[in-house]
Amino acid sequence: LSFRNTGGRCVSSPPQKETPLANAAFWAARKGNAPLLQLLLNSGRVDADCRDSSGSTALMVASYSGHCDCVKQLIMQGADINYQRETGSSALFFASQQGHDDVVKLLFEFGASTEFQTKDGGGALTAASQYGHAKVVETLLKNGANVHDQLHDGATPLFLAAQGGHVTVIRQLLSSGAKVNQSREDGTTALWMAAQMGHDEAVKVLLLRGADRDADRHDGSTALFKAAFKGHNSVIEELLKFSPSVGILKNGSTALHAAVMGGNLQTVLLLLGANADPMTPNENHELPADLTRSDRILKVLRPKVLNGGS
Ligand SMILES: *[C@@H]1O[C@H](CO)[C@@H](O)[C@H](O)[C@H]1NC(C)=O
Ligand SMILES: *[C@@H]1O[C@H](CO)[C@@H](O)[C@H](O)[C@H]1NC(C)=O
Repeated sequence: LSFRNTGGRCVSSPPQKETPLANAAFWAARKGNAPLLQLLLNSGRVDADCRDSSGSTALMVASYSGHCDCVKQLIMQGADINYQRETGSSALFFASQQGHDDVVKLLFEFGASTEFQTKDGGGALTAASQYGHAKVVETLLKNGANVHDQLHDGATPLFLAAQGGHVTVIRQLLSSGAKVNQSREDGTTALWMAAQMGHDEAVKVLLLRGADRDADRHDGSTALFKAAFKGHNSVIEELLKFSPSVGILKNGSTALHAAVMGGNLQTVLLLLGANADPMTPNENHELPADLTRSDRILKVLRPKVLNGGS
């Protein structure tokens, strides 16, 4: 998101033509030039709720840029604190997304609401969680933001924090009652997402807080399967402490198959060390060893194949 060149055309009521003064007000809000902004607003020739072509107000621009004094100035001059632009974003959303806790607090002092949603169903808390802004998350939760908010695809603040590996935020959300096993509509849980992104610390915290280690997505893959495919060995070590399934999964394959396909020798060794069975075929009757040409990997799989098979 960018406010560069948004200009200051006033396209909403009260109807007002694009003016150099409105442009200057947007510029001042972006740059944090509160004295200039005050001068412009006091002139009576710039409306405090003037919008640009995307429906942004100067208050949104100042909030996004983190300029408290400009935010205050605009509110004092009557700017509507809860305006939403076309995408649904409000000043609170932008300040939260950018991690400007002082602005967020100020907006709350003047009655900002956490109710507003963007077009994808997100709000201030989903934005702050996604970007890992722990202070803002704390402020939002204190001011009534709903920890159970969801995007239209079902992603929660916890899911988004897990995706980004934001451990502090993950802890805050869980302490505020976030559901650790809640999945997105495609079945993806916070643990699955953290595992696939390689965030071992996030995986550890989620497991300690009771996340279902074997939760599978609708495609049948689990956190271990995905981490094995990607070779995220520190994630795998955390998962293995909780004895996840190393057998055949709903999608007809095992984590060892995934590890062999991923081609990471260390991953294969980790799974063998956790008693993954190299003699378990996938649904296509292939053993893990059938899925690689790597001598190094075959060498660690074969002795076991020979022992177990004959
Ligand atoms: C998450 O799911 C697992 C497995 O079904 C269950 O044991 C655990 O209690 C759940 N955790 C929470 C906090 O609901
Ligand atoms: C299992 O799931 C993975 C990842 O979604 C996929 O690549 C694989 O083809 C699936 N099925 C089998 C038999 O491995």
